[in-house]
Amino acid sequence: MKQLIGWAVAVLAIMVGVGGCSFFQDPHVTKGRELFQYYCIHCHGPKGKGDGFNAKFLDPHPRDLTDSREEYIGPQTNEEIYATLSRDIVEEKDTKPEDNWVPAIMPTFKYTLSDEERWSIVAYVRTLQKNEAGKVDFSKPLSTERHAAQVTAKISLADYKPDQLKALEEKGAHLYRSKFVCSSCHAIDEKGGHVGPDLSRSGIRLNPWWVYRWIKAPQSIKRDTKMPNFGLSDDEALAITAYLSTLRSDKTIEPPTKE
Ligand code: HEC
Ligand code: HEC
Repeated sequence: MKQLIGWAVAVLAIMVGVGGCSFFQDPHVTKGRELFQYYCIHCHGPKGKGDGFNAKFLDPHPRDLTDSREEYIGPQTNEEIYATLSRDIVEEKDTKPEDNWVPAIMPTFKYTLSDEERWSIVAYVRTLQKNEAGKVDFSKPLSTERHAAQVTAKISLADYKPDQLKALEEKGAHLYRSKFVCSSCHAIDEKGGHVGPDLSRSGIRLNPWWVYRWIKAPQSIKRDTKMPNFGLSDDEALAITAYLSTLRSDKTIEPPTKE
């Protein structure tokens, strides 16, 4: 009997040691880690330290989720981290001071990942820093459905008079820069991030109807794209499409190096 217990202890010790404890790892944490590696590391870095390849293009910088320099994520509740991933993007002018508005340099994942996936990411983020938050509660069933946007309307910018089009382009430029901050992943004339392609030549390269459909529902065109769905309204998508159609840089663009 003694020997048997000895063996059991030895086998356990080996499993814990070899697997980095993966055998015992909560399946939600494992799933959250995978999603984090896919959707977050370009900004937050492979270990969550805020040092992804795209971080140098961003101001403010992505958060260090490990709290290695200052305590910031640790004191937050699980619900607060979930809310960061699940918010609707709003402009500062539409908020009250107590909303603690932050610019949308960090995109939302509300329309890209299911509830269960976002909570799994929270469970993983919790393993990155010291905190006293309890475990994420997965005992209640969470929705595993992703937001399924389909776009059927076929827009044409030729339907608009020059002054209407001008107003749309200006509104689109504003939404691109100040509301959705698309520049956190895309560069125009060398300014902005490099997670997605440079958009300086969108007006030459891309068909507006396709752009409209893409920005409203990227996952309906490419299922696993890293570009999040922002939950754009029809009007917002139309305005941003009009703005992108004006980008006609004649410079050749070098593809960025991702390391
Ligand atoms: C395009 C770059 C980018 C991506 C992609 C990104 N983040 Fe962020 N994140 C930021 C930036 C910049 C900040 C700091 C400014 C802010 O809070 O908006 C931030 C802040 C945060 C914060 C702290 C928010 C607060 O102030 O309380 C959390 C938590 C976070 N990100 C988690 C994630 C997770 C998880 C993912 C992937 C699902 C992710 N981020 C993807 C750029 C990004
Ligand atoms: C988290 C990063 C991220 C953010 C934020 C982001 N995109 Fe993207 N975008 C991408 C990626 C990655 C691609 C490449 C698509 C692919 O291959 O999956 C892309 C592709 C595109 C394309 C197609 C470009 C081409 O040459 O094929 C357009 C247009 C575009 N994005 C517009 C936008 C707009 C408008 C916004 C803001 C509302 C935005 N993006 C925000 C990551 C992002």
